[in-house]
Amino acid sequence: MTKVAFFDTKAYDKPSFEQYGNQHDIRFRFLETKLNEDTVDLAKGCDAVCVFVNDTVNAAVIDKLYEYGVKIIALRSAGYNNVDLRSAYGKIHVVHVPAYSPYAVAEHAMALLLTSVRRIHKAYNRTREFNFSLNGLTGFDLHGKTAGVIGTGKIGRIFIDICRGFGMKVIAYDLFPAMDSGIEYVPLETLFEHSDIISLHCPLTDDTRHMINAAAIEKMKKGVVIVNTSRGGLIDAEALLEGIKARKIGAACLDVYEEEADIFFEDRSGHIMDDDLLSRLISMPNVIVTSHQAFLTEEALNNIAETTVNNIRSCFENDGICDNELCYRCGNIEQCKKVRKQRCF
Ligand code: NAI
Repeated sequence: MTKVAFFDTKAYDKPSFEQYGNQHDIRFRFLETKLNEDTVDLAKGCDAVCVFVNDTVNAAVIDKLYEYGVKIIALRSAGYNNVDLRSAYGKIHVVHVPAYSPYAVAEHAMALLLTSVRRIHKAYNRTREFNFSLNGLTGFDLHGKTAGVIGTGKIGRIFIDICRGFGMKVIAYDLFPAMDSGIEYVPLETLFEHSDIISLHCPLTDDTRHMINAAAIEKMKKGVVIVNTSRGGLIDAEALLEGIKARKIGAACLDVYEEEADIFFEDRSGHIMDDDLLSRLISMPNVIVTSHQAFLTEEALNNIAETTVNNIRSCFENDGICDNELCYRCGNIEQCKKVRKQRCF
């Protein structure tokens, strides 16, 4: 029986993971707390840990897990910027769920965009109070507008298809353009200058952190709508707020926020909000925030549970090769062992 410490458990996680795991060869120890240096001891006696986007898997945590004999860090997310892959290398194998429903995230990005540009959030509140006035609800057509998509991987490409379905022109930027895709790639600066809507679908890395900063905003069209369903750290939130206050940014749709770790996913309605920047952003009439909800569909939850359980199984079975293993060499074709069907170490 493989024992798995399941950190940061939410009510919506349990049914799908119990269905795929607990009845068989894997037993989950569901823990509500997040993994960090203070809570890592809860993994003692477990063979694996299962973590989500706001668990802290830094060098200190990895060393403790290694000391306790944990063999696998199983991310139940696609993004892995919260794991120090270099520290884990040679000690603990890291696996993730590369795709569980790219449609869920791309569709949420479009849902946020439509809500924002057609003022649906305002109309909903009004009609609930029998206020049927249309004043202040004027939107704009997406048809004919230019969407700038940063990151044309699984989610970015679906978002592009959705935009094209609306009759939008799409331009894109990617560090590794997909040349045969029919996507019109442009330099990042050109994308900033020409887009009416900018949607972020690239990972958070040292290179992409704060790619939307004051200098980038300066280059953008007046009235640009920024959609971020990727990672909060891609945007310098202070610069975003300044851009909104200066009337440069027309609207922001945020499913992620750089400092979300201790805020999102919890009911904080009875608390005083300490994060002044987030409070200010939420108070803006042209900012919509959802709390890292883009992935949350039934299809995605089932795929996440199934893939995570299979990842853990393959790591402990036979040759231990798991297609979804990650290491700091990912993306480096010459060094990558995965392409040669080996474990990362
Ligand atoms: P993917 O790996 O299929 O695509 C990422 C794309 O970004 C690739 O084409 C890659 O070449 C490109 N890229 C890498 N570095 C770049 C750079 N410096 N500049 C521009 N492009 C760069 O990933 P996928 O599945 O499309 O996911 C995208 C992001 O969405 C993830 O990194 C994750 O952070 C986020 N995400 C958010 C979710 C949510 O619930 N809000 C759920 C799932 C993913």
